[in-house]
Amino acid sequence: MSAKSKTTVPLRWRKDVERVLITEAQLARRVKILAREIEKDFHGREMVVVSLLSGTVMFLADLIRHLNLPLRLDFIGVSSYGLGTESGELVFTKELRIDVRNRDVLLVDDILDTGRTMSRVLPKLRALKPRRLKTCVLLDKPGRRVEKVRADFVGFAIPDHFVIGYGLDFAERYRNLPFVGVLHPHVYKEVSKHICRK
Ligand code: IMP
Ligand code: MG
Repeated sequence: MSAKSKTTVPLRWRKDVERVLITEAQLARRVKILAREIEKDFHGREMVVVSLLSGTVMFLADLIRHLNLPLRLDFIGVSSYGLGTESGELVFTKELRIDVRNRDVLLVDDILDTGRTMSRVLPKLRALKPRRLKTCVLLDKPGRRVEKVRADFVGFAIPDHFVIGYGLDFAERYRNLPFVGVLHPHVYKEVSKHICRK
């Protein structure tokens, strides 16, 4: 397959996806390296991976399969009830069940954007007194930051585009795309028109 065909948006998605930002192969390569970096940092100690629902599904599944150390996995549900591409008010939809006191914790999210989500979740986790707390995100949009947060492990730093695929959604859709793509602006413009009419 030529380099061009790998970055061409599959016909099925051409109406919604402007372009492929990160290919399936690039994702696979980077996630593997990221896992090595995390492994080294955790010195083979057992960890609790705390993942934020639902955008992390694919990244998490790939990442933990490359982590050669004992781990337990739990989820926190957070939903930002914004319908467009801006995050709205944060609501917790699922609480952590595993006791993380004195444990080494890795918090995993799909994307660090304004930082509002992380800045709400981190104090909540710190209050549970883990021994160590590190953060990992697949994507980072540093140009969008509102809150002063950073991630310890970052897959890719990307420019300020609304992206979908590999777990990331727009209005709960497109999570199943195997690549990360830039959402066509006409898609969210149509949605906001629809919301304004209501
Ligand atoms: P933050 O709270 O603004 O940092 O945003 C974090 C959350 O917003 C992520 O976990 C995503 O669910 C969502 N988000 C931010 N940017 C994007 C994007 O480009 N595509 C899809 N979801 C995004
Ligand atoms: Mg999310």
